[in-house]
Amino acid sequence: MLKKKIVLVVGARPNFMKSAPLMRELGKHGDRFETLLIHTGQHYDHKLSQLFFDELKMPKPDIYLGVGSGSHAEQTARIMTSLENELTELKPDLVIVFGDVNSTLATSIVTSKLWIKLGHVEAGLRSFDNTMPEEINRIVTDRLSDYLFVSEPSGLANLKAEGVADKKVFFTGNIMIDSLVSNLAVANKSDILQRLNLRPKEYIAMTMHRPANVDDSETLKGIITSIQKISERLPIVFPCHPRTRNRIEEFGLLKSSQSTGLRIIEPLGYLDFLKLQADSRLVLTDSGGIQEETTYLQIPCITMRENTERPATVDIGTNVIAGTDPKRITEGALATLDGTGKKGTVPELWDGKTAGRIVDILIDKLF
Ligand code: UD1
Repeated sequence: MLKKKIVLVVGARPNFMKSAPLMRELGKHGDRFETLLIHTGQHYDHKLSQLFFDELKMPKPDIYLGVGSGSHAEQTARIMTSLENELTELKPDLVIVFGDVNSTLATSIVTSKLWIKLGHVEAGLRSFDNTMPEEINRIVTDRLSDYLFVSEPSGLANLKAEGVADKKVFFTGNIMIDSLVSNLAVANKSDILQRLNLRPKEYIAMTMHRPANVDDSETLKGIITSIQKISERLPIVFPCHPRTRNRIEEFGLLKSSQSTGLRIIEPLGYLDFLKLQADSRLVLTDSGGIQEETTYLQIPCITMRENTERPATVDIGTNVIAGTDPKRITEGALATLDGTGKKGTVPELWDGKTAGRIVDILIDKLF
Protein backbone atom coordinates (compact mmCIF):
# COMPACT_ATOMS: atom_id res chain seq x y z
CA MET A 1 0.00 0.00 0.00
CA LEU A 2 1.29 3.45 -0.90
CA LYS A 3 1.65 5.39 2.35
CA LYS A 4 0.02 8.78 2.78
CA LYS A 5 2.30 11.54 4.03
CA ILE A 6 0.76 13.63 6.80
CA VAL A 7 2.42 16.73 8.24
CA LEU A 8 1.30 18.03 11.64
CA VAL A 9 2.22 21.67 12.29
CA VAL A 10 2.42 23.07 15.82
CA GLY A 11 3.80 26.30 17.21
CA ALA A 12 2.50 27.44 20.57
CA ARG A 13 1.88 25.88 23.97
CA PRO A 14 -1.81 24.97 23.54
CA ASN A 15 -0.99 23.14 20.27
CA PHE A 16 1.26 20.61 21.95
CA MET A 17 -1.32 18.78 24.08
CA LYS A 18 -3.69 18.72 21.09
CA SER A 19 -1.15 17.21 18.69
CA ALA A 20 0.43 14.61 21.00
CA PRO A 21 -2.53 12.16 20.98
CA LEU A 22 -2.92 12.38 17.20
CA MET A 23 0.81 11.88 16.64
CA ARG A 24 0.65 8.76 18.81
CA GLU A 25 -2.48 7.41 17.13
CA LEU A 26 -1.12 7.98 13.60
CA GLY A 27 2.06 6.20 14.73
CA LYS A 28 -0.01 3.05 15.35
CA HIS A 29 -0.79 3.01 11.63
CA GLY A 30 2.76 3.18 10.32
CA ASP A 31 1.79 0.86 7.46
CA ARG A 32 -0.58 3.53 6.11
CA PHE A 33 0.82 6.87 7.23
CA GLU A 34 4.19 8.55 7.20
CA THR A 35 3.76 11.26 9.85
CA LEU A 36 6.03 14.28 10.15
CA LEU A 37 6.00 17.01 12.79
CA ILE A 38 6.88 20.64 12.09
CA HIS A 39 7.34 23.13 14.98
CA THR A 40 7.20 26.74 13.85
CA GLY A 41 8.99 28.04 16.95
CA GLN A 42 6.25 30.57 17.78
CA HIS A 43 6.86 29.53 21.39
CA TYR A 44 10.51 28.86 22.10
CA ASP A 45 11.09 29.29 25.88
CA HIS A 46 11.87 25.95 27.51
CA LYS A 47 8.86 26.27 29.84
CA LEU A 48 6.44 27.04 26.99
CA SER A 49 7.74 24.47 24.53
CA GLN A 50 10.42 21.79 25.19
CA LEU A 51 9.04 20.98 28.65
CA PHE A 52 5.70 20.08 27.02
CA PHE A 53 7.39 17.91 24.39
CA ASP A 54 9.22 16.04 27.16
CA GLU A 55 6.18 15.58 29.41
CA LEU A 56 3.84 14.60 26.59
CA LYS A 57 6.52 12.22 25.27
CA MET A 58 6.36 13.85 21.86
CA PRO A 59 9.05 13.10 19.30
CA LYS A 60 11.56 15.79 18.40
CA PRO A 61 10.06 17.81 15.52
CA ASP A 62 11.32 16.70 12.11
CA ILE A 63 11.61 20.35 11.15
CA TYR A 64 11.97 23.40 13.43
CA LEU A 65 11.31 26.73 11.72
CA GLY A 66 12.52 28.91 14.63
CA VAL A 67 10.37 31.93 13.75
CA GLY A 68 10.25 33.42 17.28
CA SER A 69 8.19 36.42 18.41
CA GLY A 70 7.09 39.47 16.45
CA SER A 71 4.02 41.48 15.49
CA HIS A 72 1.15 39.42 14.08
CA ALA A 73 2.14 40.23 10.50
CA GLU A 74 5.84 39.56 11.10
CA GLN A 75 5.27 36.28 12.87
CA THR A 76 2.65 35.02 10.41
CA ALA A 77 4.76 36.06 7.42
CA ARG A 78 7.92 34.38 8.77
CA ILE A 79 6.03 31.12 9.30
CA MET A 80 4.50 31.32 5.81
CA THR A 81 7.82 31.97 4.06
CA SER A 82 9.66 29.12 5.80
CA LEU A 83 6.78 26.69 5.63
CA GLU A 84 6.20 27.23 1.91
CA ASN A 85 9.73 25.97 1.20
CA GLU A 86 9.32 22.95 3.47
CA LEU A 87 5.90 21.90 2.17
CA THR A 88 6.93 22.41 -1.46
CA GLU A 89 9.76 19.97 -0.86
CA LEU A 90 7.83 17.49 1.29
CA LYS A 91 4.71 17.35 -0.91
CA PRO A 92 2.47 15.90 1.81
CA ASP A 93 -0.98 14.44 1.11
CA LEU A 94 -2.43 16.26 4.10
CA VAL A 95 -1.43 18.95 6.60
CA ILE A 96 -3.11 19.06 10.00
CA VAL A 97 -3.31 22.16 12.19
CA PHE A 98 -4.64 22.63 15.72
CA GLY A 99 -6.56 25.33 17.56
CA ASP A 100 -6.32 29.02 16.80
CA VAL A 101 -2.79 30.40 17.18
CA ASN A 102 -0.87 32.38 14.57
CA SER A 103 0.97 29.20 13.51
CA THR A 104 -2.43 27.66 12.70
CA LEU A 105 -3.42 30.60 10.48
CA ALA A 106 -0.08 30.84 8.66
CA THR A 107 -0.01 27.10 7.97
CA SER A 108 -3.57 27.10 6.66
CA ILE A 109 -2.88 29.82 4.10
CA VAL A 110 0.34 28.25 2.83
CA THR A 111 -1.13 24.75 2.67
CA SER A 112 -4.23 25.68 0.73
CA LYS A 113 -2.30 27.86 -1.73
CA LEU A 114 -0.10 24.85 -2.47
CA TRP A 115 -3.28 22.82 -3.19
CA ILE A 116 -2.50 20.48 -0.32
CA LYS A 117 -5.43 19.13 1.69
CA LEU A 118 -5.88 20.76 5.11
CA GLY A 119 -7.34 19.31 8.31
CA HIS A 120 -8.28 21.47 11.30
CA VAL A 121 -8.54 19.94 14.75
CA GLU A 122 -10.80 22.05 17.03
CA ALA A 123 -12.79 23.54 14.17
CA GLY A 124 -15.96 25.62 14.38
CA LEU A 125 -15.39 27.43 17.69
CA ARG A 126 -16.46 31.08 17.58
CA SER A 127 -16.34 33.86 20.18
CA PHE A 128 -17.93 36.29 17.66
CA ASP A 129 -15.34 38.78 18.87
CA ASN A 130 -12.99 39.87 16.10
CA THR A 131 -10.82 41.84 18.53
CA MET A 132 -9.38 38.47 19.54
CA PRO A 133 -6.60 37.47 17.15
CA GLU A 134 -7.61 33.85 17.68
CA GLU A 135 -11.11 34.48 16.26
CA ILE A 136 -9.62 35.67 12.97
CA ASN A 137 -7.27 32.67 12.96
CA ARG A 138 -10.23 30.32 13.53
CA ILE A 139 -12.43 31.84 10.81
CA VAL A 140 -9.73 31.79 8.13
CA THR A 141 -8.51 28.31 9.02
CA ASP A 142 -12.01 26.81 8.93
CA ARG A 143 -12.78 28.54 5.66
CA LEU A 144 -9.71 26.93 4.05
CA SER A 145 -9.97 23.48 5.63
CA ASP A 146 -11.02 20.29 3.82
CA TYR A 147 -11.56 18.25 6.99
CA LEU A 148 -13.00 20.03 10.04
CA PHE A 149 -12.81 18.09 13.30
CA VAL A 150 -15.22 19.59 15.82
CA SER A 151 -14.92 19.39 19.63
CA GLU A 152 -18.36 20.52 20.86
CA PRO A 153 -21.90 20.96 19.43
CA SER A 154 -21.59 24.76 19.03
CA GLY A 155 -18.88 24.11 16.43
CA LEU A 156 -21.31 22.12 14.30
CA ALA A 157 -23.92 24.88 14.48
CA ASN A 158 -21.39 27.63 13.68
CA LEU A 159 -20.01 25.84 10.64
CA LYS A 160 -23.50 25.11 9.36
CA ALA A 161 -24.46 28.78 9.76
CA GLU A 162 -21.36 29.74 7.78
CA GLY A 163 -22.37 27.42 4.96
CA VAL A 164 -19.59 24.85 5.35
CA ALA A 165 -20.61 21.65 3.58
CA ASP A 166 -21.69 18.90 5.98
CA LYS A 167 -19.44 16.37 4.27
CA LYS A 168 -16.33 18.27 5.41
CA VAL A 169 -17.39 18.41 9.08
CA PHE A 170 -16.79 15.63 11.64
CA PHE A 171 -17.89 15.67 15.27
CA THR A 172 -14.93 13.86 16.83
CA GLY A 173 -14.82 15.37 20.33
CA ASN A 174 -12.19 17.20 22.32
CA ILE A 175 -8.64 16.03 21.64
CA MET A 176 -7.17 18.02 24.53
CA ILE A 177 -9.17 15.78 26.83
CA ASP A 178 -7.33 12.79 25.27
CA SER A 179 -4.10 14.23 26.70
CA LEU A 180 -5.74 14.98 30.02
CA VAL A 181 -7.17 11.47 30.37
CA SER A 182 -3.91 9.77 29.49
CA ASN A 183 -1.77 11.98 31.75
CA LEU A 184 -3.96 12.48 34.82
CA ALA A 185 -2.55 9.55 36.80
CA VAL A 186 1.03 10.73 36.21
CA ALA A 187 0.06 14.34 36.94
CA ASN A 188 -1.47 13.24 40.24
CA LYS A 189 2.02 12.17 41.34
CA SER A 190 3.39 15.67 40.78
CA ASP A 191 4.82 17.21 43.95
CA ILE A 192 3.82 20.74 42.92
CA LEU A 193 1.62 21.22 46.01
CA GLN A 194 4.47 20.31 48.35
CA ARG A 195 6.88 22.52 46.39
CA LEU A 196 4.52 25.48 46.76
CA ASN A 197 3.50 24.55 50.29
CA LEU A 198 -0.21 24.25 49.40
CA ARG A 199 -2.95 22.00 50.65
CA PRO A 200 -5.64 20.53 48.35
CA LYS A 201 -8.74 22.74 48.04
CA GLU A 202 -7.10 25.53 50.02
CA TYR A 203 -5.94 27.68 47.12
CA ILE A 204 -7.09 29.20 43.83
CA ALA A 205 -5.18 28.54 40.58
CA MET A 206 -5.00 31.36 38.07
CA THR A 207 -3.72 32.11 34.57
CA MET A 208 -3.96 35.27 32.47
CA HIS A 209 -2.26 36.19 29.21
CA ARG A 210 -4.85 37.59 26.75
CA PRO A 211 -3.69 40.83 25.08
CA ALA A 212 -7.11 42.39 25.85
CA ASN A 213 -6.53 41.80 29.57
CA VAL A 214 -2.83 42.45 29.96
CA ASP A 215 -1.78 44.96 27.28
CA ASP A 216 -3.96 47.82 28.56
CA SER A 217 -2.67 49.25 31.84
CA GLU A 218 -6.08 50.23 33.26
CA THR A 219 -7.64 46.81 32.53
CA LEU A 220 -4.64 44.96 33.96
CA LYS A 221 -4.60 47.21 37.02
CA GLY A 222 -8.31 46.55 37.62
CA ILE A 223 -7.93 42.78 37.37
CA ILE A 224 -4.89 42.76 39.64
CA THR A 225 -6.73 44.83 42.24
CA SER A 226 -9.58 42.32 42.09
CA ILE A 227 -7.36 39.25 42.43
CA GLN A 228 -5.47 40.82 45.31
CA LYS A 229 -8.78 41.22 47.09
CA ILE A 230 -9.79 37.63 46.38
CA SER A 231 -6.39 36.41 47.56
CA GLU A 232 -7.11 37.85 51.00
CA ARG A 233 -9.75 35.08 51.32
CA LEU A 234 -7.77 32.21 49.79
CA PRO A 235 -4.24 32.20 48.38
CA ILE A 236 -3.98 32.54 44.60
CA VAL A 237 -1.20 30.78 42.70
CA PHE A 238 -0.55 32.45 39.38
CA PRO A 239 1.92 30.82 36.97
CA CYS A 240 2.61 33.83 34.82
CA HIS A 241 2.98 33.93 31.02
CA PRO A 242 6.00 36.02 29.87
CA ARG A 243 3.68 38.51 28.13
CA THR A 244 1.85 39.21 31.41
CA ARG A 245 5.03 39.40 33.49
CA ASN A 246 6.49 41.92 31.02
CA ARG A 247 3.36 44.09 31.23
CA ILE A 248 3.18 43.95 35.04
CA GLU A 249 6.78 45.20 35.16
CA GLU A 250 6.28 47.77 32.42
CA PHE A 251 3.20 49.26 34.14
CA GLY A 252 4.86 49.15 37.57
CA LEU A 253 2.05 47.04 39.10
CA LEU A 254 2.17 44.64 42.02
CA LYS A 255 4.92 46.26 44.01
CA SER A 256 3.04 45.32 47.17
CA SER A 257 2.17 41.71 46.22
CA GLN A 258 4.10 40.35 49.21
CA SER A 259 1.42 41.56 51.59
CA THR A 260 -1.38 39.60 49.91
CA GLY A 261 -1.99 35.93 49.21
CA LEU A 262 -1.17 36.38 45.53
CA ARG A 263 1.79 34.30 44.44
CA ILE A 264 3.17 34.93 40.99
CA ILE A 265 5.37 32.07 39.84
CA GLU A 266 7.11 30.96 36.64
CA PRO A 267 4.99 29.14 34.00
CA LEU A 268 4.44 25.49 34.94
CA GLY A 269 4.74 22.40 32.79
CA TYR A 270 1.74 20.39 31.66
CA LEU A 271 1.75 17.83 34.47
CA ASP A 272 2.31 20.28 37.34
CA PHE A 273 -0.42 22.57 36.07
CA LEU A 274 -2.86 19.70 35.64
CA LYS A 275 -2.26 18.73 39.27
CA LEU A 276 -2.56 22.36 40.36
CA GLN A 277 -5.96 22.63 38.64
CA ALA A 278 -7.24 19.25 39.82
CA ASP A 279 -6.60 20.03 43.51
CA SER A 280 -7.68 23.67 43.45
CA ARG A 281 -10.87 25.05 44.96
CA LEU A 282 -11.42 27.40 42.04
CA VAL A 283 -9.67 28.40 38.82
CA LEU A 284 -9.53 31.97 37.50
CA THR A 285 -8.47 32.21 33.87
CA ASP A 286 -8.68 33.92 30.51
CA SER A 287 -7.42 30.84 28.65
CA GLY A 288 -9.61 28.80 26.30
CA GLY A 289 -8.21 25.36 27.04
CA ILE A 290 -8.36 25.77 30.81
CA GLN A 291 -12.12 26.41 30.62
CA GLU A 292 -12.32 22.93 29.09
CA GLU A 293 -9.88 21.21 31.44
CA THR A 294 -11.73 22.51 34.52
CA THR A 295 -15.03 21.33 33.05
CA TYR A 296 -13.61 17.84 32.61
CA LEU A 297 -12.07 17.91 36.12
CA GLN A 298 -15.33 19.37 37.53
CA ILE A 299 -13.50 22.27 39.18
CA PRO A 300 -15.37 25.63 39.25
CA CYS A 301 -13.90 28.06 36.72
CA ILE A 302 -14.36 31.81 36.48
CA THR A 303 -13.43 33.15 33.07
CA MET A 304 -12.12 36.70 32.98
CA ARG A 305 -13.42 37.45 29.49
CA GLU A 306 -16.66 38.85 28.11
CA ASN A 307 -17.33 35.81 25.93
CA THR A 308 -16.25 32.27 25.23
CA GLU A 309 -15.83 30.30 22.01
CA ARG A 310 -16.39 27.16 24.11
CA PRO A 311 -20.03 27.52 25.29
CA ALA A 312 -20.29 23.84 26.25
CA THR A 313 -18.13 24.69 29.28
CA VAL A 314 -20.85 27.12 30.43
CA ASP A 315 -24.00 25.27 29.26
CA ILE A 316 -22.85 21.86 30.47
CA GLY A 317 -19.66 22.38 32.47
CA THR A 318 -18.39 24.32 35.48
CA ASN A 319 -17.49 27.58 33.74
CA VAL A 320 -18.88 31.04 34.58
CA ILE A 321 -18.16 34.02 32.32
CA ALA A 322 -17.39 36.95 34.61
CA GLY A 323 -16.00 39.47 32.13
CA THR A 324 -13.14 41.79 32.97
CA ASP A 325 -14.89 44.17 35.33
CA PRO A 326 -12.99 43.83 38.64
CA LYS A 327 -16.19 43.99 40.68
CA ARG A 328 -17.78 41.11 38.78
CA ILE A 329 -14.62 38.99 39.04
CA THR A 330 -14.38 39.57 42.79
CA GLU A 331 -18.08 38.90 43.38
CA GLY A 332 -18.04 35.79 41.21
CA ALA A 333 -15.00 34.36 42.96
CA LEU A 334 -16.20 35.13 46.47
CA ALA A 335 -19.65 33.68 45.72
CA THR A 336 -17.97 30.49 44.54
CA LEU A 337 -15.85 30.33 47.68
CA ASP A 338 -18.91 30.93 49.86
CA GLY A 339 -21.01 28.32 48.12
CA THR A 340 -20.04 25.11 46.45
CA GLY A 341 -19.26 26.52 43.00
CA LYS A 342 -20.96 25.75 39.72
CA LYS A 343 -21.69 22.09 39.20
CA GLY A 344 -21.41 20.59 35.78
CA THR A 345 -21.11 17.47 33.73
CA VAL A 346 -18.74 16.44 30.96
CA PRO A 347 -19.76 17.23 27.35
CA GLU A 348 -20.33 14.49 24.81
CA LEU A 349 -17.24 12.88 23.28
CA TRP A 350 -14.83 14.37 25.77
CA ASP A 351 -13.73 10.85 26.52
CA GLY A 352 -10.08 10.42 25.60
CA LYS A 353 -10.85 8.75 22.28
CA THR A 354 -10.91 11.72 19.90
CA ALA A 355 -7.57 11.02 18.20
CA GLY A 356 -8.75 7.48 17.41
CA ARG A 357 -11.94 8.82 15.80
CA ILE A 358 -9.94 11.32 13.71
CA VAL A 359 -7.59 8.60 12.45
CA ASP A 360 -10.55 6.36 11.54
CA ILE A 361 -11.91 9.21 9.42
CA LEU A 362 -8.52 9.82 7.77
CA ILE A 363 -8.26 6.13 6.86
CA ASP A 364 -11.73 6.28 5.38
CA LYS A 365 -11.15 9.51 3.42
CA LEU A 366 -7.54 9.18 2.25
CA PHE A 367 -7.54 5.59 0.98
C1 UD1 B 1 -0.23 32.65 21.93
C2 UD1 B 1 -1.54 32.53 21.16
C3 UD1 B 1 -2.70 32.39 22.13
C4 UD1 B 1 -2.46 31.29 23.12
C5 UD1 B 1 -1.13 31.52 23.82
C6 UD1 B 1 -0.82 30.42 24.79
C7 UD1 B 1 -1.65 33.73 19.04
C8 UD1 B 1 -2.22 34.89 18.34
N1 UD1 B 1 -1.81 33.69 20.36
O1 UD1 B 1 -0.28 33.88 22.65
O2 UD1 B 1 -3.87 32.09 21.40
O3 UD1 B 1 -3.51 31.26 24.05
O4 UD1 B 1 -0.11 31.58 22.81
O5 UD1 B 1 0.34 30.68 25.52
O6 UD1 B 1 -1.09 32.86 18.40
N2 UD1 B 1 7.12 35.08 24.56
C9 UD1 B 1 8.18 34.63 25.33
N3 UD1 B 1 8.60 33.34 25.13
C10 UD1 B 1 8.05 32.51 24.21
C11 UD1 B 1 6.99 33.00 23.42
C12 UD1 B 1 6.53 34.27 23.62
O7 UD1 B 1 8.71 35.34 26.15
O8 UD1 B 1 8.48 31.35 24.10
C13 UD1 B 1 6.63 36.46 24.78
C14 UD1 B 1 7.22 37.43 23.80
O9 UD1 B 1 7.37 38.65 24.43
C15 UD1 B 1 6.12 37.55 22.76
C16 UD1 B 1 4.88 37.42 23.60
O10 UD1 B 1 5.23 36.47 24.63
O11 UD1 B 1 6.17 38.73 22.03
C17 UD1 B 1 3.67 36.94 22.85
O12 UD1 B 1 3.92 35.68 22.23
P1 UD1 B 1 2.98 35.17 21.02
O13 UD1 B 1 3.40 33.81 20.61
O14 UD1 B 1 2.91 36.21 19.99
O15 UD1 B 1 1.55 35.13 21.66
P2 UD1 B 1 1.04 34.61 23.09
O16 UD1 B 1 0.64 35.79 23.89
O17 UD1 B 1 2.01 33.64 23.69
